[in-house]
Formats: sequence, C-alpha cells, structure tokens
Amino acid sequence: MKLCMIGTGYVGLVSGVCFSDLGNDVICVDKDLNKIDNLKKGIIPIYEPGLEELILKNFKNNRLKFSTDLKESVSKSDIIFICVGTPTKKNSSDADLTQVYNVVKEITKSISKFKIIITKSTVPITTGDQIEKIISKKIPKKLFSVVSNPEFLREGEAIRDFNYPDRVVIGTDNKRSNKTLKNLYAPLISKGTKYINTSRRAAELIKYASNAFLATKITFINELSNLCEKIDVNIEDISIGMGLDKRIGSRFLRAGPAYGGSCFPKDTKAIVSTSDRFKSNLSVIKSVIKSNDNRSSLLLKRIFDILNNKVKNKKICFLGVTFKANTDDMRDSSCLSMIPTLLKKGAKINYFDPTGEKNEFKNFKNVSYSNDIKSGISNSDLIIIHTEWNDFKSINFNKTVKNKNYKIFDMRKIYSPKKMKEQKIKYFAIGS
Ligand code: UDX
Repeated sequence: MKLCMIGTGYVGLVSGVCFSDLGNDVICVDKDLNKIDNLKKGIIPIYEPGLEELILKNFKNNRLKFSTDLKESVSKSDIIFICVGTPTKKNSSDADLTQVYNVVKEITKSISKFKIIITKSTVPITTGDQIEKIISKKIPKKLFSVVSNPEFLREGEAIRDFNYPDRVVIGTDNKRSNKTLKNLYAPLISKGTKYINTSRRAAELIKYASNAFLATKITFINELSNLCEKIDVNIEDISIGMGLDKRIGSRFLRAGPAYGGSCFPKDTKAIVSTSDRFKSNLSVIKSVIKSNDNRSSLLLKRIFDILNNKVKNKKICFLGVTFKANTDDMRDSSCLSMIPTLLKKGAKINYFDPTGEKNEFKNFKNVSYSNDIKSGISNSDLIIIHTEWNDFKSINFNKTVKNKNYKIFDMRKIYSPKKMKEQKIKYFAIGS
C-alpha cells in the first residue's frame, strides 16, 4: 500500500520505517528540510536501537522515501498518517493541536480521490470529529475517512513494540477503511496481534486511558517504595509478590524516580483536562499527577539525608540523565528538577550518559559532563544511579572511586544490596 507519514519524530519515523519493512511504499514527510536532508544521507535524528539499519535497508530498496513536499506526498498516497507533536500547551493541561490542524488544512488541499486520514499522534477524544468537520467544509465526505489508530510504542523498544504489539486499535465505523487497515496490519495479525475495531472516540480514549493506567501503576509502586523505606522492607519483594498475581502483572511495577518522557506527563494531564471539560472527574489520575510531581522533592530529601544535610561543595555524579534507559530523550526527565535544586544548595554536579552530553545542562556553571563512567565517578562524594542502563550494572566502584567515603544512591535498584554490603560500599536505594 502507499502510505504517507506526516511528522518524522519518534512515532512517524519508526512507524513509517516499519511499515516500509512490511513491504509498503512509504513517504515520510517533514517540514524540517535539514532533518529530511539528513535522513536522505542516513543521519538519524533520534536514538532508537535498530532504527538506523532499518532506514538504510528500506531507503536503499526504494520502499522508503523522505520529502518536505506534503501536497505531492499526500496525492501519491492512499493512507495518510498524522504523526506530528501534540505537546501540552504552556500554562495549561490541554494538548496543543496547532500542528495537527495545520497539517489537516494542508492535506485537504490534496484530496482528489478517496483517502484514509489517520491520527497516529495521541490526540484528545473528539479530535477526529473536529478533523472531519474541517475537511468536509472543502471535500465531499465520500472522498475521505478520518480514523484513529493510536500507537503504543515505548522509546528504546519502539521497533519491537511496532512489530509485536499486544493489539492494533482501529477507531472507525467506515467499513471500507476498516477493511483496508485490516489488510495493512495483516502481517502483524498473522503473527498473533489482536486487531480491534472500535468507534473513533473509543480508540482515542483507549490510548489516553492506557498511558494513564501505566502511569498510575508506576506511581502506585513508587508510593509503596516510600512506605518500604520507613518499615525496612525491600520494594522489590513487593513488586515480585504483587506481580505474580496475573490480574496485576509484573511489568511496569518497578519503583524509580518520577516518571517522565514525552507521553505519561502530557497524556495524564490531557485526559484530566478532557474529562473536566465533559464534567467528569478522573480523581485517581489527578492524584497520580500530584504524587508524581511531588516525587522529585521526596528523592531530593533522601539525598540531603544521605549527605547529612551537608550538600555545599559535595561532588555528585549522575549516572544517566535521560528520562529512562535506552533513549536520548530528556523530556520531563526527573533529573531536570533535581539537579537545579542541588546546585542551589552548592553541590558540584557532573554526569555521564551513554547517549552523550545534553544541551539542557550546557548553561549550568557547576554542571560538567564526563565522557566515560570512570572519570565521572572517580572524584565523587555521591554517585546517583538515575537510569537503568546496562552500562552501569558492573562497575567496580571500590577500584575506581578515590574518596573512600563515597556513597551510592540507586534510584533504579539495579544493584544487589547484599553484594554492596559485601564490598563495604555505603549503598542507599529507593524502596529499602
Ligand atoms: C510510554 C508508553 O509505555 C507507550 O506505550 C506509549 O506509546 C508512549 O509512552 P515511553 O514514554 O517511551 O512509553 O516510556 P515507558 O517505557 O513507558 O516509561 C515511561 C516512564 O515510566 C519512564 O520515566 C520510566 O522510567 C518509568 N517507568 C517505567 C518506571 O518508573 N517503572 C517501570 O516499571 C516502567
């Protein structure tokens, strides 16, 4: 099939490449000329394991193309995926749909035969209705169908999540569109993926509800880890004991710093904002947002306790600064709220991250970047494990760190307390 992905971010680029790898002809469109030129040269704008090889393979066999010409790309395609950003509006909880509606207006100019227009970006419930209204002002309804097909891709696992999704959700009551999309996803369905067809609004809500539930599950275990710290219980025992109940499940039950990323923070706020608009109160998600917003200050208090409230001039090394491992994404990373507070208290911060130095810290006087783990931790008073990269799992601390009184604060519980004790390391971790 002939597909056009509008927006080449984490969703559009990964989905487009994976669709081309399934044998479709895909044009990935972006208004950023520099990004498109780089993609044509095989320079990939995002860190996603396995993506570069897939792009080069499909670009070479001509199934995957890149363009800045939206009009021409839409007219050549049968199925148009809208994959542009829907960030949270400034000083609001609402999703900013400016990019979505701008793209819809452009698409409208290129509809001369039947097109399926799909929102793959996470959009508030009823957005599909608005899009249909905008297009039908200029185009007869028989020439287009607006469908919701939300993505469930985790950064760092996106290719696997695309090829082995638990489900494909197609929100439409248009029989022709449903049939076409069932064909498009046939290679995944034949491998066991569940295909569900719902109303468009149900599909839009399934996406928000799924992310909000995952954020709730993580916040639940994070709050339990706070309790464990008070009663000398290991939160990992609780995660294992709870997770063996098939109704609960063991995934997304790992305590950590505040959840971050490009989705959970914005999607939890957006679903609450939508439900408030419809006068329905999602009180559980509201408390999840509040709890997560408060989590960084809780962990900061733990850091102050570990340092006996002597933070001034202390050398603190963050191992990992992105919002989680296996990504280069800094959006809503919990260290973005922790590091400025530590600096205000007079700490000297340095950090190492496998995805390299971050612009977010370039203007901070007392934040330095170390090119490798060894130089990052060697002069530290406190080493903070902020993300769970495998690179951090077998460091010989006693051999590397000069200051013999150094401490470790493990925000991801990647080390065994027993082994730390055997090495006589002053080891602290969340949830124990
Ligand atoms: C999420 C959803 O998982 C995905 O389905 C959706 O399409 C996009 O949003 P992503 O934001 O890439 O994916 O990251 P995810 O792996 O879900 O982690 C989100 C946050 O939760 C991260 O900060 C992560 O560190 C945290 N997390 C996740 C935990 O603290 N504990 C866990 O057990 C899992």
